[in-house]
Amino acid sequence: MLNIPNKIGALYNILLNSYLDIILVRNLNDHTKIFKSENKNHASCQSINYSLLIESLKYFDIKNADNVVDVGSGFGRIVLFLKWKYGISNITGYEINKTANKVSRKNCQGKGIKILDEDILDSKLTHCVYILFNPFNGLILEELLYKNKEITGFKLVFINAYEEHIAVFKKSKYKDLQIHVLHNLYKGIEGKKLVIAEY
Ligand SMILES: C[S@@+](CC[C@H](N)C(=O)[O-])C[C@H]1O[C@@H](n2cnc3c(N)ncnc32)[C@H](O)[C@@H]1O
Repeated sequence: MLNIPNKIGALYNILLNSYLDIILVRNLNDHTKIFKSENKNHASCQSINYSLLIESLKYFDIKNADNVVDVGSGFGRIVLFLKWKYGISNITGYEINKTANKVSRKNCQGKGIKILDEDILDSKLTHCVYILFNPFNGLILEELLYKNKEITGFKLVFINAYEEHIAVFKKSKYKDLQIHVLHNLYKGIEGKKLVIAEY
């Protein structure tokens, strides 16, 4: 049973999420059905909770980032929030799920956000901050890091990391990789882990 402060926290969360969706997102569909239907390699198929995003943003300096990429941008919650809050000029979402891609293009239309329908594995990582709200399992993460093992100067911020992801980061010590694993980031509702990996 939730105690009173937790109940208030949960209510605040619901209100904050609904408010931000109303002002930022034009089209919201059933995330779970859409994400599950097209791709088997997802470790999770939800859309990020804004409270978790806001909490995660305290741990890295997104305000001064020149280029930000959301890997697996879904319906656009993260890119829309970052554009609205920080006005970052160069912001891109990669989304391979056709339905989610179509919805997010509509959501981001006219807002200066690029939405690509490319697989991040087909793209070389570059000088950007990459935000990943657990788009895929450890195997795909390993492939992404391996494919980019010669490249430096980018940052991966992996929100809601599972043990399998943390193990991949730890063993993929390419170049001057520095990793910071932050545990129980989001105490309000359930423990979430954030990994910040700098190459
Ligand atoms: C957990 S959802 C997160 C959606 C969004 N970031 C949000 O929080 O609302 C993960 C998304 O990653 C996408 N995805 C998975 N693998 C991908 C890949 N290799 N390249 C681009 N997008 C990918 C999925 O289609 C899915 O929409």
